[in-house]
Amino acid sequence: MTRKKIEKEYNEKIKKLTKLNRFYFEKNNPKVDDREYDTLKKDILNLESRYSYLRSKNSPSVIVGYKPSKNFRKVSHRVPMLSLANAFDQDDLNNFEKKIMNYLNQTNRLEVEYSAEPKIDGISASLSYKNGNFITGLSRGDGKEGEDITENLKTINDIPQKILSRDFPSDIDIRGEIFIQNNDFKKLADKFANPRNAASGSLRQKNSLETKKIPLKFIAYTFGYEKGLKITKQSEFLKKLKEWGFKTNPLNKTIKGIENLMKNYSEIENKRGSLDFDIDGIVYKINDFKLQKRLGYITNSPRWAIAHKFSANNGVSKIENIEIQIGRTGALTPVAKIKPINIGGVVVSNATLHNEEEIIRKDIRIGDTVLIERAGDVIPHVVSVDLKLRNKESKKFIFPSECPSCGSKTIKEYNFITKKEDAVRRCTSEGFECEKIAIEKIKHFVSKEAFNIDGFGKKIVENFWRLNLVKLPQSIFTLDYSVIEKLDGWGKQSVSNLKYSIDSKKTIPLERFIFALGIRHIGLENAKLISKHLLSKKNFISLAETQKFNDLINIDGIGETQINSIKSFFANKTNLKVLNDLSRLIKVKDAISVKNNGLFSNKTFMLTGKLEGMSRAEAKSLIEENSGSIISNVSKKLDYLIIGEKPTKRKIEAAKDLKIKILSQVEWLKMFNKTS
Ligand code: IVH
Repeated sequence: MTRKKIEKEYNEKIKKLTKLNRFYFEKNNPKVDDREYDTLKKDILNLESRYSYLRSKNSPSVIVGYKPSKNFRKVSHRVPMLSLANAFDQDDLNNFEKKIMNYLNQTNRLEVEYSAEPKIDGISASLSYKNGNFITGLSRGDGKEGEDITENLKTINDIPQKILSRDFPSDIDIRGEIFIQNNDFKKLADKFANPRNAASGSLRQKNSLETKKIPLKFIAYTFGYEKGLKITKQSEFLKKLKEWGFKTNPLNKTIKGIENLMKNYSEIENKRGSLDFDIDGIVYKINDFKLQKRLGYITNSPRWAIAHKFSANNGVSKIENIEIQIGRTGALTPVAKIKPINIGGVVVSNATLHNEEEIIRKDIRIGDTVLIERAGDVIPHVVSVDLKLRNKESKKFIFPSECPSCGSKTIKEYNFITKKEDAVRRCTSEGFECEKIAIEKIKHFVSKEAFNIDGFGKKIVENFWRLNLVKLPQSIFTLDYSVIEKLDGWGKQSVSNLKYSIDSKKTIPLERFIFALGIRHIGLENAKLISKHLLSKKNFISLAETQKFNDLINIDGIGETQINSIKSFFANKTNLKVLNDLSRLIKVKDAISVKNNGLFSNKTFMLTGKLEGMSRAEAKSLIEENSGSIISNVSKKLDYLIIGEKPTKRKIEAAKDLKIKILSQVEWLKMFNKTS
């Protein structure tokens, strides 16, 4: 890579980090999880160490936290509030100790004693006490300057306003963590992603009466400026803090040797799910203040302390219940309801157990202590059960042999292709007869790739079902809007928006119509194939009368499984009624047999941004119907870039560089005399 390219990559990463910081620190609304954030930070630091010419005032190697918000007066910390280096495994800890030994010019004979303090994941604060009185309280800010949040801090019961103990220093900054307990967080869970954000948000209220409403806690663990402190060890200081009236972490310990640190780490990690506050690691500090002083600091953090972080993608919790969810195709999916646990900044309270076989294989039971993994956007799942912690009275989980929604028998189908029984157990009811399946089918019907009815979300489907407004998909097109207008949460405007969304989707291409019916094994791709073969809704519906299902075998890509599924769809009376009613209420556009010499023959397109009144799927079909094709990268092979609302700037710039023709949605539609 050339220097220019490296600088470009570096600056982009810095820009992204600055933006994420703003969301996190100013708006208390993180845009990515901690893991992604940490990776970005690490990437920047790696680039800086490889290429010494890279520098930015916004680099994490320069800034400690984030600049204070404008809502509060800024005050300099008398002693900076630094951060800690991170360790993730035993190797990191060995290295940490080795560096200390080298620095002190000691062989390993010196057995170091550590103060091991579970690291509460909250917001740090520095409290100045003069002659025993709490005077000023600051947030950490950027480490040098904090925000004056004294009034808000005064609302916290754990913060003593006056300390009378004779040995309390005459002037000292007591530092610690403000946080919110997990059970108090539950009440705020729909406003904040995790307890840390909730604490930060409440602490930064302009009006301290608002802060007072939130039960914030304070745990003290260190000091900044001090005058008159006569103590030689961190463990002693923690003891004194308690005597002076501060709360300290009940799980603090003094420990010698890395192996014992590791033992304590896994004990606490296992307890993590049952604690009533969030911790994201353990802080180890050299216990002896004399040694701390000798070791001193490197730029932003002390040499004498390190944070041993818990994994950002897994955690231990307890299964409180196992619920069975029923999907659109009748599949019964077991879901573990777990004691909420913070994994990488996201509070997890559900974990999928996949299917019956998985439960049997791992012998997962209600009450078990389990390891939960949450990686990227994948649904959290149970990795393993800690059998040592299992209650002796616990019983095996019996998977229901009847559908919990409609009572029909549940079965595991035989798969003729794999010649094995399916892992998934299904409800044998015929679709709309089972309440849960019917609701899921309607959700599918209105979804993006099917009818794409804007604003008709999952909650509305559930609500309308409960109120008997929509029991079958066709009812969507005969809704009594005067009834909806009177419902809680609805008004004239929202009803008129809904009506507009529904009315504008009364014409639909055949392929999306077939897909919307939710026939098992007929996804969008198969629906397209069938649509291209049958061409009209009439031909599709007449499959029921002519029973010419086997003709479909001529379609490349359609096999016996799909045909059997279509057959059983047409054998069901409710499905036929849905089809007939829909036929009267909406218009299904015939498929156009694809021309190879269409208007866009040999032309490639790319879409960026949101199109008006048209989904991506629809735009793609339009292009393909006219013999064009879609590609996913801006390259010399691209002929047209179509831009919608909020396009990706990078793509536009790349297209400009390559002199690729850029079209607005209107210009593109004009190409074949269409208006949106
Ligand atoms: S000592 C220089 N002790 O962790 C010493 N910090 O990345 C730094 N934290 O900003 C502070 N528990 O918010 C210390 N027992 C503990 C802690 C702790 C949590 C937080 C604190 C700090 C961050 C360091």
